[in-house]
Formats: sequence, C-alpha cells, structure tokens
Amino acid sequence: MSVDTKILRALRRESGSASGAELAEHLGISRAAVWARIEDLRKLGYQIEASPHEGYRLTATPDLLHADDLLARLPEDCVIGRNIQVFQETTSTNDIIERLARDGVPEGAVVFAESQTKGRGRLGRKWVSPSGQGLWFSLLLRPPWPPAQVTQITITTAVSLSRAVSRVTGVYPEIKWPNDLMHDGRKFAGILTELSAEPEMVRHVVVGIGMDVNVDSGEFPDDVRQLATSLRAVTGRAVDRAQLATQILRELDADYQRLLQGRFDEISSEWMERCRTIGREVTISMGDRRLVGRAEALDIDGALLVRSEHGRLERVVGGDVRVERSQA
Ligand code: BTN
Repeated sequence: MSVDTKILRALRRESGSASGAELAEHLGISRAAVWARIEDLRKLGYQIEASPHEGYRLTATPDLLHADDLLARLPEDCVIGRNIQVFQETTSTNDIIERLARDGVPEGAVVFAESQTKGRGRLGRKWVSPSGQGLWFSLLLRPPWPPAQVTQITITTAVSLSRAVSRVTGVYPEIKWPNDLMHDGRKFAGILTELSAEPEMVRHVVVGIGMDVNVDSGEFPDDVRQLATSLRAVTGRAVDRAQLATQILRELDADYQRLLQGRFDEISSEWMERCRTIGREVTISMGDRRLVGRAEALDIDGALLVRSEHGRLERVVGGDVRVERSQA
C-alpha cells in the first residue's frame, strides 16, 4: 500500500483527523516527509486543513479518480479493487485489462480511464467516453467455470451497479437484459463482457463498465441523444464519481464472492426485482435473426427465456433487446 493511500485511509477514519506525529509513526517516515506528501495531495486538489490541536483533517476532495484514494476507500481484504490503476487517457480500458490478464496479473485488478479514445460497446458499437464526466473502467476476473456460465457475471454486474447507484444517489435504476441500466426508458450505463476461454474452462473474463455519471447531453452522438441520459441529468446535481466508483467495487466484490459460493439464485432474484424486461413483449435482434415474444424468466446460467410469438420457449444468450414501449 502506498504512503498516500495510508495517509488518505487515516484521514478517512471515523475521528476524521490524524496528527503529523501519529502519521509519521504509522508510516515509518519523518513528520517533514508526511508534510511533503500532504502538500502533494493538496496540489491535486485535496483540501487538508492542519491545526496544532487536531492535526490534519480532510475537508474536501477533488472531482478526479486517483488510484491511491480509491484504494484508501476500499477494505484492505477486498479482491475486486486490490490493484487499481487510473489512466488520464487510453484507447479502451478493456484492452489494458486484456493485456494485464495475458501477463498473468491476479483477478480483481481494475483499470479506470478519465477518457477513452476507442471506447467500445456491445455489438461493435462505439462508446463515447468524455473526459472526467463518467466512470469508464474494466476489471479482471478468473472464475473457475465453463464459458457458458459467464453470462452470470454480466447479470451480477448489472445488479451490483444498480444497487451501488441506489445507495449513492437514491435513483432506482431499471435493468434491461442483460446489461443496460436505464432510468425512465433512457440508458445511462452498459456492460461489455469479453471472454478468453478453452472449450471447457474460462481463462479470464474482462468486464468493462461504462456509466454516464455527469455527462453533458451535448456529448452524446445525435443518434443516441434521445435514448441516453446521465445520473446528473436524472438527479439534477453532480454525482461524486470517486464515491460511486468505490461503492460499485464494494458491491461487485461482495456479489462476486456470492457467485463463487454458488449463490447465483440470490442474485438472479434481485435481478428479477430490478428488471424491466421480464414479463414484457420484446423484440430481439441476433445478427440476421429477429425474435418477437414475451420475456418470461432468467435461466440458471443467466440466459433470457423468451416465449416466441409461435409459442416456443427460446433461450437467448446475446443480442439486442428492445422492450416494446406501448406496455411500459
Ligand atoms: C454497452 O454497449 O452497453 C457496453 C458499454 C461498455 C463501455 C465500457 S467503458 C469501459 C470499458 N472499455 C470499453 O471500451 N468499453 C467498456
């Protein structure tokens, strides 16, 4: 753990302050060295007051993603978020995690970018990632599973994101199968799960998450402007991205442990409660094929079970789902 993570962790304790002497002893460095680190944090925009009686006190944090601070806000024993990197700009955070995966980095690594030049969405779509306005990040998982089970990860991620958004903003998102978070029929977050696997066993999974937190509506391309929104637009105020990011990582960490313990049924029940797809008429495009029917349930591996207009029950594992609005 870096010195800055230790300082920020100490300043976020319940007491809310730490003396220079206490920090110096805890970190095994001089008080002058503590002061130098505090000065560097102040230059980044952290407001840290110093008083002779109370010591240092953190009074405000800047709107930026800083790996040391994100780490300081997470439990020391977490798996997801045990290793965090933040890039000011990159092509796609999924590409960075893919590279780390091939280098043998353990699961739980997370990469954020303040902006992406080649952010991508599902079905080969472009994902717009304007600087400092959203959460654009990816994580590495290595579940000991057959590839078919990986849909559970996308479903679980949607539940974790949705719960974190509710806890931090009070907004209750609706989930659209399998990966979209919506508010009032408009999308504000999506998940891109990419898989590397042998026929019988997953090598690794890259889970990419894009969330339009404080994105200006002018940033959305013309063709999606009417379909997209941001949490700032929904709540009417800017949302603290670092607080939301760490709440998401906490929820993901807890839910991933549940998945590994074979408790997908608990997650799928929560997914059903939060979902706006089940029980609705849907049109699903899968390449050249179109399936029209009623979404009935979630299968054990996360596939969507759709009763087609011809009365057959079909399992859907991918594709573009449109929930017919007339019944919304
Ligand atoms: C979707 O189509 O709904 C999925 C969007 C996923 C976007 C995220 S942003 C971080 C990560 N890097 C990417 O290039 N894509 C994902």
